[in-house]
Amino acid sequence: MRYVALLLIGILIGALACVAAIGAMRQGTPYDSAVMAVMSQQMGALRGMSERNACDAAEIDRRLALLGAIAGETEAAFLPIGDDARFTQLSQDLRDAVTAARSHQAADCDALAKAMAGVGGSCKACHDVFR
Ligand code: HEC
Repeated sequence: MRYVALLLIGILIGALACVAAIGAMRQGTPYDSAVMAVMSQQMGALRGMSERNACDAAEIDRRLALLGAIAGETEAAFLPIGDDARFTQLSQDLRDAVTAARSHQAADCDALAKAMAGVGGSCKACHDVFR
């Protein structure tokens, strides 16, 4: 009888753990990680173009437009984070840097490198404070 009771308790604990695990998997990707992952992917793709010396104006502009659009979501993804005013300012700095980069209309890798300097710097500026 004792063994049957222990067996039932074991099955019950197993079932509860299973429900908890399924719940954890359902939560999906946190939005803050998603926003950073998409921006990081675009930065990596732009860097990759330079490394392959294959800088295409239309592709550069498409990726910068995407980066700029996602950069508009940093506050939605992270606030409140503590010093919200500072975070908002650093987010705006990133958006300004992306706008400046797009205005270069880089059509070759040299122009792309110049255009991207400010963008990389604004990622780092915020990470230095908030990450
Ligand atoms: C306004 C602030 C801010 C700006 C600008 C910013 N980040 Fe972040 N980033 C953060 C914070 C805060 C974290 C830490 C998130 C965490 O640990 O949950 C982070 C984390 C990350 C991560 C790790 C994500 C993870 O879940 O492990 C990557 C990759 C990243 N950022 C890339 C970038 C890139 C690329 C840029 C520029 C295009 C950028 N970030 C600009 C605030 C910023």
